[in-house]
Amino acid sequence: MASVNVIDHPLVQHKLTLMRRKETSTASFRRLLSEISTLLAYEVTRDLPLEMIPIETPLAKIDAPNLSSKKLCLISILRAGNGLLDGMLDLIPSARVGHLGLYRDPHSLQAVEYYCKLPLDIDERLAIVLDPMLATGHSAVAALNRIKHYGARSIKFVCLVAAPEGIKTLQDAHPDVPIYTAAVDSHLNEHGYIVPGLGDAGDRLFGTK
Ligand code: URA
Repeated sequence: MASVNVIDHPLVQHKLTLMRRKETSTASFRRLLSEISTLLAYEVTRDLPLEMIPIETPLAKIDAPNLSSKKLCLISILRAGNGLLDGMLDLIPSARVGHLGLYRDPHSLQAVEYYCKLPLDIDERLAIVLDPMLATGHSAVAALNRIKHYGARSIKFVCLVAAPEGIKTLQDAHPDVPIYTAAVDSHLNEHGYIVPGLGDAGDRLFGTK
């Protein structure tokens, strides 16, 4: 079964509380999401392999740790996933970026794909899939199906808030994909929103409501 890694770092938790508040402005919400994503990038890359390479400091020759050739790809699930991109790229600027457009059919709550552009060599990369809200899990499962179909073999899923229902759906469909989240909330409401959650992440990020 895929692991669920809850990032309980005090800075992440504090910033998430600010994001949850309904009076938080669009500008603040966007900035906070970017800041949290940098902190999440730190955690999700924690186990990247290192190799020792010879270097020379001004004082001595040593063998020092260097990231080995593991290449990365960030995949944003449009549109809210874009809010996690820049903060992650601040830390891993050479990562490639893919985009996958999925929307939730409001009646069936199923994911419908409308856009897909992924790096050609995705099979050689660690794919870090980004979507702030893991709610029903339907879009996440559809996204991972698509990304695996393109050849990705090594995948991690990063969100900000997860519902227990979404975690179960994702784990059942993709037991090989570890989940990273800042919080696991109580439940989904009848419209598929996470409670207490933070509302519609895309609308709050882009100010569309
Ligand atoms: N998508 C969101 O943006 N918020 C939720 O609570 C659930 C899905």
